[in-house]
Amino acid sequence: MDPWSAYWKNGICTSFGSQPPQWYTHALQPLWESGFTKLPDHSSILDVASGNGAVAQIAARISIEQKKQLRIVAADKASLAAEIRTEYSGQIEFLPNTPLEKLCIPGGKFAFVTSQFGLEYAKVDLALGSVHEVLEENGELLMVAHHRASIICEHSREELQQYRALLSEFPVFAKLALLLQAMGEIRGRSDLQGLSGNPASEKQRVAFNRVIGKLLRRYPEGVVLADVLQRINPLFKENVTMPLSAKLQYVRHLEQDMVHAQQRLLDLTTAALDEKGMQRFLRLAEKNGLETEMCEKMSDEAGLLAWVVRFRKNN
Ligand SMILES: C[S@@+](CC[C@H](N)C(=O)[O-])C[C@H]1O[C@@H](n2cnc3c(N)ncnc32)[C@H](O)[C@@H]1O
Repeated sequence: MDPWSAYWKNGICTSFGSQPPQWYTHALQPLWESGFTKLPDHSSILDVASGNGAVAQIAARISIEQKKQLRIVAADKASLAAEIRTEYSGQIEFLPNTPLEKLCIPGGKFAFVTSQFGLEYAKVDLALGSVHEVLEENGELLMVAHHRASIICEHSREELQQYRALLSEFPVFAKLALLLQAMGEIRGRSDLQGLSGNPASEKQRVAFNRVIGKLLRRYPEGVVLADVLQRINPLFKENVTMPLSAKLQYVRHLEQDMVHAQQRLLDLTTAALDEKGMQRFLRLAEKNGLETEMCEKMSDEAGLLAWVVRFRKNN
């Protein structure tokens, strides 16, 4: 499974987790709300690279609150969570497995195409051509895109270092599996008490703790490390009597999760646009019949957040 499909299948609605940072709602929500509010009734909206519909849900709420009867379509290359059932998801047509490079959407063209941290992930030239194709004459594309100097990219680069250390430099998951195997099946208190006299399990415990100690010294405030330790902890506490095979499977899943998270951050930092990248993006948009109406940087007290760009389909 690709890392985005794996992420969305958990039912999370934003790419910043189930509790996104404050700026996410404060800065992004008003932008989308005013974009949807301006639309005439019965307009069609397409949110591209939609994930589980963070932007589409805002459109659906505005449509209901303002009785606009908007048609809302959300398309993404990933396979999305079929089971997502938020208050507004019934108002949205989700199109999973729909890459931007080959948008083929039945049911007519769109007055408004939106992209929140999406278009820049695709093959931009092809993606912009597709957007031009699906837009109505004079239709609008509003995009929020990653800026290479944003606080998001800065944090992502820091987290990537932790993922590299966890997954490549220090064999954390291999050492954890060795420790669990050496501990063997734990059925109760007496098995646990017996462990301190078991040299094989003591040796693996020391080896595992040494690796964790090194990581903690290098990243004393590392959020990735704190998260992984929090997820490992139950194996030695409330889940200590789980069968060994289930514990080992849990470790494999945890490692896979970390690999996926690392890949998503790599995608993000690669997709992010610096000034030169944005100039190129705008040239490609123009080449594909999309006229730039506005290109700004979005910031708040937390720092630089993203690019905001508005295009119009010229005929
Ligand atoms: C950072 S997430 C943003 C998702 C959503 N817009 C949001 O704000 O929650 C990037 C999304 O782009 C999608 N994506 C990446 N490449 C794509 C492509 N070529 N075509 C369509 N979607 C793509 C990924 O599957 C992922 O869901």
